[in-house]
Formats: sequence, C-alpha cells, structure tokens
Amino acid sequence: MSKITAAITAVGSYVPDFVMTNKILETLVDTNDEWITTRTGIKERRILKGEGLGTSYLAIKAAEQLLEKRKLDPKEIDLIIVATATPDMMVAATAAYVASEIGATNAFAYDLQAACSSFLYGMSTAASYIEAGRYKKVLLIGADKMSSIIDYTDRTTCIIFGDGAGAALFEPNTEGLGLQDEYLRSDGVGRNFLKMDAGGSLLPASEETVKNRQHFIYQDGKSVFKFAVTNMADSAAKIMERNNLSHDDVDWLIPHQANKRIIDATSNRMGLEDSKVMMNIQRYGNTTSATLPLLLSDYESQLKKGDNLVFAAFGGGFTWGSIYLKWAYNS
Ligand code: UT7
Repeated sequence: MSKITAAITAVGSYVPDFVMTNKILETLVDTNDEWITTRTGIKERRILKGEGLGTSYLAIKAAEQLLEKRKLDPKEIDLIIVATATPDMMVAATAAYVASEIGATNAFAYDLQAACSSFLYGMSTAASYIEAGRYKKVLLIGADKMSSIIDYTDRTTCIIFGDGAGAALFEPNTEGLGLQDEYLRSDGVGRNFLKMDAGGSLLPASEETVKNRQHFIYQDGKSVFKFAVTNMADSAAKIMERNNLSHDDVDWLIPHQANKRIIDATSNRMGLEDSKVMMNIQRYGNTTSATLPLLLSDYESQLKKGDNLVFAAFGGGFTWGSIYLKWAYNS
C-alpha cells in the first residue's frame, strides 16, 4: 500500500471591505506613506467594521468560499482547526462556533494559537491527522481580527496589522503530494518582545490594565525584526538543504507577511528570484494567522500540480519554522 501524505485540495479566503490606507493612518498618528512603504512594504490593509463581528465572521466567510468552490458538503468535514491569535472570546472555542455556522455538524473543532506562526503550526497538526489515517477531511482556517487588539494611537504597531482569513482543506494523497517535511521551533525568550500583556491568567483585566492600555499589542519591533530575519531565513534554508532542494527546484516561497524586508532577506538567502516569491503585504499588511492561506488563495490560479512550495513564518512567543509541501492540483 502506498504511503498516505496530507495534501491541500482546496483553498478559500475573505478580507473585509473597509480599506485602511496609509493616508488614513497619517490622520491618526504621526506617520507618513513614505515611511510605511519603505520600512514595511505596506500600502493598505483591511479592517472589519460593524458591531458584534469577531474573528469567527472572517473565518466563516473564508470557509464558505472554500465549500462553494469545491462544492463540498460541510457534513463531510471531520475536523475544523481555527488558527488565531484573536479568538472571539478567551473561553469558548471560536472553531466550534465556525463549525456550527457552516453546517459542519459531523466535525469536532478547536482553536490553535501560536501568534503569527499559528497557520504554519496548524498545517503540521492537520497533516498529522491525515497521515495517521485518522481523519479524511481536515479544514484549517487562519483568521485574525487584529484591529481588535491594536492601539490606533501607537504608530509602531497600528501601521502593520490588518484583518483577514484564509482556509485550506487537507485530504489524504497517495501520489506523494502534499506535506513533505517540516522544521518547527519555538523559544520563550521572545515572549516579552511581542505580546498583549493583559486579559490572560497572568494579568487579568482590571481598571488598571485598561487605563494602562495593556489590552493592546506591544512590540519591540527592532528586536523582533532581528530574530525574524535570522530564523525565517535559517529555517527555509534548512528545509531546502534537508530535502536536497536547490533554488531551481523551489517553485514558490510562501512567506509570512510581516515586513517586505524580512521576506526579501529570506528569499535572498534561498537564492530565489522575486517571481517565485508570493507577496500581498502591500494590500493586506500583517494579518497574523491569515497571511499564508491568503497567499495561497491569491496565487491559486498560478499553482500547478507537483510544484514545490516552501512556507516560512515567524511570530510572537517566539514561534517560527518552515514547511515543504508539494502542491496537489491544477485549478
Ligand atoms: O509578524 C510577527 C512578527 N513581527 C515582525 O516580524 C515585525 C518585525 N519588525 C518590523 O517589521 C520593524 O521593526 C518595524 C516595521 C516594526 C519598524 O521598522 P524599523 O525599521 O525597525 O524602525 P525602528 O523601530 O528602528 O524605528 C526607526 C525610526 C524611529 O525614530 P528615531 O528613533 O530613529 O528618530 C521611530 O520612532 O522610525 C520611527 N518610527 C516611525 N516613523 C514614522 C516608528 N514607527 C514609525 C511610523 N512612522 N509608523
């Protein structure tokens, strides 16, 4: 019997309508389009507006697009994982609500949190269930409403993040396509460089935490930048070396969209020309758990069966790594 691998067999995505341009941010904080563009590569990002809409709204929309495109009955899904750093609530899994709302009544569902590496780690989790033969259809959704934890008076963070969601269906494959190898790491030394202080068990919400603006993201950008450049590039290089992939063998780099300079450093280290590097940071900014599936969705029509894809991400925690996957279909 041939070995079962875990392939991505469909993708979907959703970004909200409201476009937050650099020009709009110029009216909120002391910044300018030129600084944001040259330092990050971001021109605009999407923001979810409207009362009572959380991350689940984005996740549901992305999942529904995937189901519609694939003409898939949601009752066939075995498991739904929502990778997110901004769940609807601290308690009550966002994924459970998403599953019910899309009609995945035969699935179990849970959230997975590893900051900007959530989707990358989720790929490992989803693939493991498939490779083990335990489940046949695992839906992995990366979704974040970053605007819910951004301080729009802090110019060092509010220019970076945006809202969005992407979904990928994992199914068994017997042609050797799908996830081939992974190199995943974490290091708790990083937790004070990129964090949201309050609202967890360490520092529960209080009048004081609200007054101190501790329910918003804090980032020591310079330090995170240094770790991100080194570790994203190292892990991508490692996965190439381990799998005997030259730069000619790699068809696409799918890098977390945190900063164009980090993406460039990673692709340079891999020896890749720009045309092989997926990028949409200019339109969406950093959507945390959604960056990788949003790229897959945007570039789906250019992907061919058998293409060698290298994913790379770095995020809070610290968490980071790289995954090598063979694309499984022509769209
Ligand atoms: O996705 C999870 C992982 N996150 C990341 O990978 C993010 C990594 N970090 C970064 O992308 C970058 O560090 C930032 C984009 C956050 C910042 O870029 P930088 O080139 O590291 O800027 P910096 O923090 O060194 O600041 C340079 C200058 C400072 O002014 P002085 O001290 O040189 O006078 C800042 O005060 O730029 C100033 N500055 C700004 N100026 C205009 C900081 N933010 C802004 C701003 N507009 N929005």
